[in-house]
Amino acid sequence: MKILGISAHYHDAAAALLVDGMPVASVQEERLSRRKNDAAFPLAAIEWCLERGGLEPDALDAVVFYERPMLKFDRILTSALRAFPHSWRSFPHAMKNTLGEKIWIRGIISSQLGVPRQKVLFTEHHRSHAAASFLTAPVRDAAILTADGVGEWATLTVGRGTRGPDGTAITLLREIRFPHSLGMLYSTFTAYLGFAVNEGEYKVMGLASYGRPTMADAVAKIVRRTADGAFRLDLDYFDFHTTAKRSFSAKFVDIFGPPRDPFEPIDLNSADGQRFADCAASVQKVLEDILVETAAALHRETGLPDLCLGGGVALNGVANHRMLQESGFERIFVPPAPGDAGCALGAALYADRIHFGNPDRDFPDHPYWGPAVEPEALARLAREDRLPVEELDDSVLLARVAQDLAAGLIIGWMDGALELGPRALGNRSILAAPHTVEMRDRLNRDVKRREEFRPFAPVVPVEDADRYFEIPPGGKRLARFMSGVFPVRPEWREKLAAIAHVDGTARVQTLEAGMAPRLHALLKEYERLSGIPVLLNTSFNLAGEPIVNRSVEGYLTFRRSGIDVLVAGRTRVAKRFMEKAA
Ligand SMILES: [Fe+2]
Repeated sequence: MKILGISAHYHDAAAALLVDGMPVASVQEERLSRRKNDAAFPLAAIEWCLERGGLEPDALDAVVFYERPMLKFDRILTSALRAFPHSWRSFPHAMKNTLGEKIWIRGIISSQLGVPRQKVLFTEHHRSHAAASFLTAPVRDAAILTADGVGEWATLTVGRGTRGPDGTAITLLREIRFPHSLGMLYSTFTAYLGFAVNEGEYKVMGLASYGRPTMADAVAKIVRRTADGAFRLDLDYFDFHTTAKRSFSAKFVDIFGPPRDPFEPIDLNSADGQRFADCAASVQKVLEDILVETAAALHRETGLPDLCLGGGVALNGVANHRMLQESGFERIFVPPAPGDAGCALGAALYADRIHFGNPDRDFPDHPYWGPAVEPEALARLAREDRLPVEELDDSVLLARVAQDLAAGLIIGWMDGALELGPRALGNRSILAAPHTVEMRDRLNRDVKRREEFRPFAPVVPVEDADRYFEIPPGGKRLARFMSGVFPVRPEWREKLAAIAHVDGTARVQTLEAGMAPRLHALLKEYERLSGIPVLLNTSFNLAGEPIVNRSVEGYLTFRRSGIDVLVAGRTRVAKRFMEKAA
């Protein structure tokens, strides 16, 4: 059976193809269109997935959309009516967006792909999140927790999943509904702190480490706990439910002070800068507390050792670490793409295993479902520019790149198939020596061009991780796809200054040799030279751009940034001035 999954029209559009229950391809539209967080109907992603599977659209048995447009329409209409008359300005806008595309999705899919309307199916948004997490994890029974901004109505769900020879089931036990939403709470603070919503949430988490949660009580007042363990936002402090223009209200500003001007840099030595950091720390703490308590209650209720997390909130690695430590679950699984991009795959898996009742299959435990890099294309581009190109045997190449890294060079590293999800997990990465603050600052200034308070992440072979990082039992599973933030051991913080955050933590990736063998071998090669098998690993893109996909995008990024050496497969290209220096 051939099933295409699609997510689109909110943020992070993507497509995924399943054939006979196994994944063949999945890619975010932004990686092909080169528009960051592209939410448009993912025609390029669909086309690529079908091409990868060698299929024409009429060979598909089903096309599954990741949410139910009518339920979403219902939510927008109801919210607008409740908020009337405040909503009269935003209502036509919301209606136009909804009516414009989402509600006609069956027709759009049917006409764009030329598949009959009855082949187009829909899953609920949070069921797509739940499936994306549970049905890709190597577990048979698990508790499931999903949390995001909003789908149709649900913003947080708890449930459980079982799979095996007797079939697959995902049972949702309870949900919290819009406008009460942890994702919206965090996004409101993201907007208030002057960052782009749906993108700047990482920055809030990074900024939080510079502050103290002095305003946690104030945050807890606007997100009140209820007797049944859920929570409600006090809507007097928010505006996101009445207008698309502003997410926080005048009363919010009365408590937390004037919002940050997005164009003003944050000066942590100023009173305002410290207030913003404290604000970030406060919302982060309240979010963590609620997630820990929700997960602990779910653990008591299910008695299961494993938790699968889904939804954009699962990208919060600090909260994930606390849930692992405090909720009672032994292991927590976060897929590489817990946000809406992963819902294309989640929707397809849900349809296959549950709607059609096809047999259970173990999902390959890696994130590499996108287009493969073509080293020949890199060699061609570099030769046209008369840059030195080397095509080397693998052992020679890895030794050479390890020497580059030890000499302080910054490497653009492209290998195999593109990762699904927002993290660079070793196939489209910028790599560098992790030892000095100077390296961190150089990367921020010359390559990533971004705020200096944002930390870089390390990658380490899983078998060596405990020497450098304090990872609790079960934590290596979180670290497999960079979903947890853990302390760097105090004795290593100085030696790993480029990847240790101000509070001594790092969002570490623990790499198993089988997942990315060449990067694993490179880490070992680097250890031979430096004594430490740790590298700084950051996503291969410049600020505001999607992660690079093909050789040409890697090459253009290399040419207009401070990256010194570019590697695709076994092809190595260096900038000319370096060859002279060498
Ligand atoms: Fe979502």
